[in-house]
Amino acid sequence: MKKLALPFCAVLAAACGGEAPPPAPPPRVAPPPSASASAAVVAPPPDPNLPFRMAYADPGGMWMPSQMTLPQHVDTFQKMGVKLDAKTLSDPLQSPLAGVVFLGGCTGSFVSPEGLVVTNHHCAQGALQLNSKGGKNYVEGGFLAKTRADEPTAGPAQRVMVAQAYTDVTAKMRDGLDAIKDPVARKKESEKRSKELVAACEKDRPGIRCQVSSFFRGGTYQLIEMLEIRDVRLVYAPARSVGDYGGEIDNWEWPRHTGDWSFFRAYVGKDGKPADYSPDNVPYQPRHWLKVTTAGLEPGDFVMVAGYPAVTDRTVNASEVHHDVEVFYPYLIDYLKERYKLAEAHLGDGGETAIKATVMKQYTQNGLEKYEGILQGLARNPGLLAQKDALDKKAKEWAAQPGHEVYKEGIEKLEALIDKQQCAELADFDRNLALGRGSSLLASAISLMRWAEERGKKDADRKAGYQERDLPRAVAASKQLSRQYDRTLDRATFRMALLRAARRIEAERPWLATLLGVKKGTRIDEALVDKTLDAWYKSPALEDEKTRLELLEKGTPAGLAASKDAFVQAARRVFAIVKAEEKKDDARAGDALLLAPLYTEANKAVLGGALAPDANATLRVTYGTVRSLHPESSAPADWPFTVASQILAKDTGKDPFNAPQKLLDAIKAKDFGPYADPALGGDLPIDFESDLDITGGNSGSPTLNDKGELVGLAFDGNKEGLASDVVFDGTTTRTIHVDARYMIWTMDALDGAKPLVKEMGLEPKMP
Ligand code: ARG
Repeated sequence: MKKLALPFCAVLAAACGGEAPPPAPPPRVAPPPSASASAAVVAPPPDPNLPFRMAYADPGGMWMPSQMTLPQHVDTFQKMGVKLDAKTLSDPLQSPLAGVVFLGGCTGSFVSPEGLVVTNHHCAQGALQLNSKGGKNYVEGGFLAKTRADEPTAGPAQRVMVAQAYTDVTAKMRDGLDAIKDPVARKKESEKRSKELVAACEKDRPGIRCQVSSFFRGGTYQLIEMLEIRDVRLVYAPARSVGDYGGEIDNWEWPRHTGDWSFFRAYVGKDGKPADYSPDNVPYQPRHWLKVTTAGLEPGDFVMVAGYPAVTDRTVNASEVHHDVEVFYPYLIDYLKERYKLAEAHLGDGGETAIKATVMKQYTQNGLEKYEGILQGLARNPGLLAQKDALDKKAKEWAAQPGHEVYKEGIEKLEALIDKQQCAELADFDRNLALGRGSSLLASAISLMRWAEERGKKDADRKAGYQERDLPRAVAASKQLSRQYDRTLDRATFRMALLRAARRIEAERPWLATLLGVKKGTRIDEALVDKTLDAWYKSPALEDEKTRLELLEKGTPAGLAASKDAFVQAARRVFAIVKAEEKKDDARAGDALLLAPLYTEANKAVLGGALAPDANATLRVTYGTVRSLHPESSAPADWPFTVASQILAKDTGKDPFNAPQKLLDAIKAKDFGPYADPALGGDLPIDFESDLDITGGNSGSPTLNDKGELVGLAFDGNKEGLASDVVFDGTTTRTIHVDARYMIWTMDALDGAKPLVKEMGLEPKMP
């Protein structure tokens, strides 16, 4: 929140002319890094809005479309000379926002009337991995379907979610909750209301998935309807040496030369309705798709990104940020380091284990560096935490004013609640790891227990996530597991989780002995864990998809009790503990339902109103300009574009700097056709930087120009700006995009994807 305090004022200052005149804009066309001295740069026609854009600094904010009518946006768009009215973006069901889709963890966009979806290469890792079998390695080599019939499934759990409607349901969700005194009952009531809204929304509408999303920590709620397309296929991804060029070394870094794009296609039944995978299905015809352009951008140009950022923690209490920084993130980092080492240790295993370990290592490194980056960012700039604290103080002062007693009391209770949760947080983390992410077999077994129990209840009374509407997703996830599971890796991650828990004193992990089936007080060491896992992994019944699906669809508590599988029996032993912990969580959540919005409202009050809610995997808009971290510098590394010739200089021939020979040859020959940029000395733009505000989940989001056309894809942020997930800092935060010109050129000239170029409405231009 506080992060928004200063930035918001900055917008106002810019919008109102401010007290100080804006700094003189740097020359728009600084010498491009690789341009030969002779490259003539044509002076751009005078642009009356350029000075404003060059001086503009994005104050941050992942805005809800409905917030785009705020005067600050309308005004800024006008001053920037944006052709689109900011208000057009307030309707997520109109172009361009309607072309943007949620892929679950990533964002994509329709780019053809035939359901073609573009997203990042790193968002297709799972699809590439699960199609890599029998000596084929698409993770390394990339993939191109020769014809539509050759487009394989992107995996049974992959979805393309197309938004259909948004309705404010705040009153329905909140009214009268405060009259319920017991927090668990209050949480139940809130869940019941959400389930009722969802049930009414989905009634007699197969293929429509509805959700109730909470904004401003429970301050407002929206009912969001999505078309759930569940036959998604892999169309094209470049080789890893293009799509993940620079790999872990360049991840979160600028300058960058990564070709982070890939393509899926959404399929539906012949009747146009979502359907399970079938060879008879046909490409989905979206109502809206984005126009891809190779017209390109220049420094200072307006850009925006629309996508589904997953989580930020900007509106949490200051005490939570301090706790995260001092206690939780260091702990999480320690775990991620252990997981990283584990993945690395299995790269030499060969075969599918190695392919799966490669993907696991990439994801782990990404998260690890992110949390390290947050801590480093906050340490480098102590002003950020000070800013958070100052806002917290102001909010509390505001709450202490006469007439605001409800807020004062609420915030005090909220802080007490947070304190209590923090005491148990690390032990909770280890338990959740061991019973959740540690082993997919144990996690499956616990979920089977839950399904068996909930199935005995009336559908409307079941726990959210275990209703009939959730069964197809659970089935898909179980099928997906068959293609992503690896016994060696599962055992290794489980072992690690158990040993982490074992290092705690017994009072902090009473569940561990129960899980392992040993007496209380037994010494739990490596030898015991290894012996136990030897037995459990000998021939786990749940490795078999048919067995899992049968239990999932028809399992009963009695049936599970009769199972001989060690994981099922372990799940049975800990199930009561799992439920007791859930009850504690529900009590906390029930209290937070009433308390957390009070803190947010106090913050909003002292900020004067305009506050973007934290990311929550719903559609958001962020806008700003093409600019590097040091726009005033003309050093090549500070230029907001990278160019192809730099790949020649950077390439070592060794992973991760081992571009394909055909790419190197084409760059040497400067064979860029009309995709070359005269302003870059005739070189080919690769990646570019902007000051937009994104986070994980935005991966694959379309980057749009001032006409709403796709000019690139967001794929990363810079490590200097990672602390922005906690306190936004516009001076250090940059988004990294792949340039559409690099993408289309590669497809046109090198990867044999001309039909896709044509499908996007573009004319291939290379021989
Ligand atoms: N850092 C990016 C993000 O989380 C993901 C980049 C994926 N590439 C990689 N080499 N890990 O937004």
